[in-house]
Amino acid sequence: MEIIRAPNYEDLSKKAAIIIASQLIQKPQSVLGLATGGTPEGLYMEIVKLAENGTISFAQVQSFNLDEYYGLAASHPQSYHSYMQKHLFSKVDIKQENIHFPDGMASDMQMFCNCYEQAMGNAGGIDLQILGIGHNGHIGFNEPANCFSASTHLVSLAESTIAANSRYFDSSADMPRKAITMGIGTIMRAKRILLIASASKRAAVERMLYGPVTPKFPASILQYHTNVQVIYYG
Ligand code: F6R
Repeated sequence: MEIIRAPNYEDLSKKAAIIIASQLIQKPQSVLGLATGGTPEGLYMEIVKLAENGTISFAQVQSFNLDEYYGLAASHPQSYHSYMQKHLFSKVDIKQENIHFPDGMASDMQMFCNCYEQAMGNAGGIDLQILGIGHNGHIGFNEPANCFSASTHLVSLAESTIAANSRYFDSSADMPRKAITMGIGTIMRAKRILLIASASKRAAVERMLYGPVTPKFPASILQYHTNVQVIYYG
């Protein structure tokens, strides 16, 4: 793993944006795995600047998002789909047909998850996967468990995740209790991974980097991936 320590959030966002930009410059038809949440907001802001000044283009990019709340339609204001439209997709030249998202409303969940995995495979696999990290070590919504999950699946969210993300909803009761997420296997199949974490995640980052590899702390599996960059500050 390459570990990059940034002096502050702005610098972390800029460094992460440069990594994505260099990926797109080297391979304009890259397949990106994208994360949501508070941490990447600055990164997406920097990426938009680079797209607006013509440094990068999303015209040939395909994107696959990590996760989506179960039971929320794409159009729901708190869906991760809406988050991506707001922070990135509506501001760059990505083609709508190249945007792939877990469907929180899929009627046949197993079939949907299989199709999502197949679509990633058909696109040639994820070239660069962006990740955040939860305090409990979750990546995507792979919560601490007894074994690592192989592929995209439906999960029950941990109480700490519900507590952390309820801030985006009118009340905690409105916060979905389940989500669809790429599995640990899906994430590990990405050719390259960039994980970003802000100051409050310091303990989680240290446990991921130096703790035992265990599904009880899912991010620890990244110690076994051969091409991971971690940018954090704090
Ligand atoms: C979001 C995701 C989550 C977040 C994590 C950290 O797509 O996959 O794993 O990256 O919960 O969220 P923030 O950045 O809000 O602290």
